[in-house]
Amino acid sequence: MPSDKTEISSVDIASQTPDKQRLYIETYGCQMNVSDSEVVAAILQQQKYYLVRESSMADVILINTCSIRENAEQKIRHRLAALKKYKKNSNGPVIGIIGCMAERLKEKIFEEERIVDLIAGPDSYRDLPRLIHEAERGEKTANTILSFEETYADISPVRLDENGVCAFISIMRGCNNLCAYCVVPYTRGRERSRDPQSILREAEEVYSIGYREITLLGQNVNSYSWIDDKNDVDIDFPGLLALLAGKFPDVRIRFSTSHPKDMSEKLIKTISSYHNICKGIHLPLQSGSTEVLNRMKRKYTADEYMDRIKAIRKYIPEAAVSTDIIAGFCGETEDDHQQTLDLMKKAEFDFAYMFKYSERPGTLAARKYTDDVPDDVKTKRLNEIITLQNILSLHSKKKDPGKIFEVLVEGPSKKSGENYMGRTSQNKVVVFPAEDSKPGQYVHVKIEKCTSATLIGRIVKK
Ligand code: 5AD
Ligand code: SF4
Repeated sequence: MPSDKTEISSVDIASQTPDKQRLYIETYGCQMNVSDSEVVAAILQQQKYYLVRESSMADVILINTCSIRENAEQKIRHRLAALKKYKKNSNGPVIGIIGCMAERLKEKIFEEERIVDLIAGPDSYRDLPRLIHEAERGEKTANTILSFEETYADISPVRLDENGVCAFISIMRGCNNLCAYCVVPYTRGRERSRDPQSILREAEEVYSIGYREITLLGQNVNSYSWIDDKNDVDIDFPGLLALLAGKFPDVRIRFSTSHPKDMSEKLIKTISSYHNICKGIHLPLQSGSTEVLNRMKRKYTADEYMDRIKAIRKYIPEAAVSTDIIAGFCGETEDDHQQTLDLMKKAEFDFAYMFKYSERPGTLAARKYTDDVPDDVKTKRLNEIITLQNILSLHSKKKDPGKIFEVLVEGPSKKSGENYMGRTSQNKVVVFPAEDSKPGQYVHVKIEKCTSATLIGRIVKK
């Protein structure tokens, strides 16, 4: 779940009760963090807090943070520097750091960032009312205890998305994979799945208020598993997908992020059998060199990855596949890099998130390997990867003019309010004249032209 998809979300649920406190939440990082901010908002709304859109209006400012790469943390430190102005007088707001950076750095943040009053890791959000209360009394306060069980299953998140059409539902937390480069197992703890009944309940809730797309979230979503011997329940990820897709036939189901080792034939066949399980599959590759994958502890070879791609293409010929790639991991040679470029061409990725390797303290790579690819070489390799992907993305889009796609309307397009935007099942963005369509509706759009990022078309009757 790449952190470059950074979003900043807040919402004003204007409540004018005088004893209430104004809460502002800013979210960085992956979709899981966006979903967590919705849980945090729900926990605090049950207390005396209501959400506001502007940090300048807030009594409590919470920054939900990301640690995935050094530049993600740097961004948050810059933001904190900008918030210093609010702390000039003694009745400034409480400022809290929550999420992955809170978990990674713990109380050290208090020494490094004087304006921070409160620290809460991803498993301690139920404790936020107490932590904020202590911070209001002038104490520096932290809870970074990780849990083996916490899934916030009983909490109905406050939806912070802007369109009212696409909802996130978190179905599992944490990660047991321990990829050598990745900080997530240290910031989000052990993997645990959420009770399927509570997932169904949340899906019912979002459906009843008009949402028509659900993205199931987890750091390693396709290793979802719920076994309850007492009640004779044994459900894996394909089972959960089939359950939701069958129960809500007019809702699109997406999921993120998958690990190639868990992209089973059963899962691929399940995706192909339901029209409403989306045919856009995100399958992080990381590197096209088996040697690098081995050092990364990814648990698959380049050939095994390509086998997954072939199985996807065989059972779901219309699928679009996107990926994540890291340039310049420890020990990566020019030949390893060429193997990544070759695999990208073979896999014909429709879209990719691409990063320079960034060493994260405490990870296996930081402890055992040397970050030995010079920064200018990392940059050069990343640029080559990006250039190739731009060609592949354009090639993928160029196949679409002339075709008709079912598109779920999300709302006005960024550039022109007269045009609407939505997505195809493959997760490609489509822009088209709104006509009399409405957000949340399915329309058929005939594609007329494309750029490397967008399809452009017109609604047609089917
Ligand atoms: N450096 C660079 N990229 C990383 N990712 C994870 N950890 C690192 C790191 N230390 C990338 C991976 C992952 C995505 C979410 O972020 O590609 O799939
Ligand atoms: Fe960033 Fe944490 Fe999400 Fe990883 S899990 S992308 S570190 S916010």
